[in-house]
Amino acid sequence: MTVLVTGGAGYIGSHTCLELLGQGYEVVVVDNFCNSSPEAVKRVKALSGKEFEFYEADVRDEKALGDVFRRHDIGCVIHFAGLKAVGESVQMPLRYYGNNLESTIKLCEAMKRAGVNQIIFSSSATVYNGENAMPLTEASRTGDCTNPYGWTKYMCEQILRDAAATEGLSVVLLRYFNPIGAHVSGQIGEDPADIPNNLMPYIAQTAVGRREYLRVFGSDYSTPDGTGVRDYIHVSDLAKGHVAAIQYCQKHTGCEVFNLGTGKGTSVLELLRAFEKAVGKPIPYQITERRPGDLATCYAATEKAAEVLGWRAEKTIHDACADSWRWQSMNPMGYGK
Ligand code: NAD
Ligand code: WQD
Repeated sequence: MTVLVTGGAGYIGSHTCLELLGQGYEVVVVDNFCNSSPEAVKRVKALSGKEFEFYEADVRDEKALGDVFRRHDIGCVIHFAGLKAVGESVQMPLRYYGNNLESTIKLCEAMKRAGVNQIIFSSSATVYNGENAMPLTEASRTGDCTNPYGWTKYMCEQILRDAAATEGLSVVLLRYFNPIGAHVSGQIGEDPADIPNNLMPYIAQTAVGRREYLRVFGSDYSTPDGTGVRDYIHVSDLAKGHVAAIQYCQKHTGCEVFNLGTGKGTSVLELLRAFEKAVGKPIPYQITERRPGDLATCYAATEKAAEVLGWRAEKTIHDACADSWRWQSMNPMGYGK
């Protein structure tokens, strides 16, 4: 089967393309490189030993998207394409609503015209309301998002839920927790365009000497060591979750939502220590103020994905730190310009 992967040059998309190719799927990728590099596509081809069609296009470009659906017999779509920087979304809300909502709507319309009805969407744990008890189940309350990025995910989920109910789409919404790590080869990984907002790439860039020290945002949370606790999931496990979702999509109609997490909470200092172990040297850090909008703790209930998709995360944070370090040390400046 051929899978159309939007945003397939990005961090999670590139790892998922590699996994799909390894499992015998044909892949077609659309990406406009607004937050990624052609080098990632080149490396996925080299690592997999397989060729695939790549289209440099914006998912909002109706003509370009129509051509892709005409040229290929697409069976299923994975929609990664989107803007994802929380802070930037506060500064540029219209850019975020414009890109993330319009790309999703245009994609659904193009699918409908082409008679393709299966779509897997990259949602996020950020759609959950901050007042929920842990672990977060798929039935936990959503909404009251704290930034425009989160609202775009919340709204796209609703658009897709409605489209499944009335337009005959078969939709799987995947709520990722905190993706980290890199492919075990060290050839592909996370390559933020600017100063990283997320913890793992910040630690990795500090370890490689690109940043002076890590700021630990708050040590007075009600967590075992006072620092924030998150559910860090290896990107290669996440990639496998998408293959499980495709298989689910083949057999079901309607709209279903799954958490993709490990079910295990790890604190900022625990992740830092695990990374230091992978690197074999201390990484400088300073405790600073809390970051506005951060929760103390966030982790997933994983039973639904295990029971229904037959998928569970297998890798540990130690695997993820070793793989991230391999990627960062082999590619200190990421994919380069
Ligand atoms: P990424 O930025 O590395 O990948 C997104 C890709 O989409 C990039 O290659 C970018 O160039 C492309 N893109 C963006 N808008 C586009 C458009 N209009 N047309 C064509 N291409 C476009 O991000 P990622 O970390 O791989 O995330 C993938 C998806 O998962 C995103 O939707 C993101 O919101 C979601 N997500 C990410 C995380 C995370 O922490 N990384 C967590 C939860 C959900
Ligand atoms: C993790 C922990 C910070 C950076 C974000 C988005 C979410 C999702 C995943 C897309 C927290 C602490 C961080 C640093 C630190 N993305 N931290 N120093 O905030 O859980 O989730 O990415 O959907 O929507 O909000 O991830 O990696 O930014 O932070 O101490 O320099 O690390 O306070 O406790 P977060 P993160």
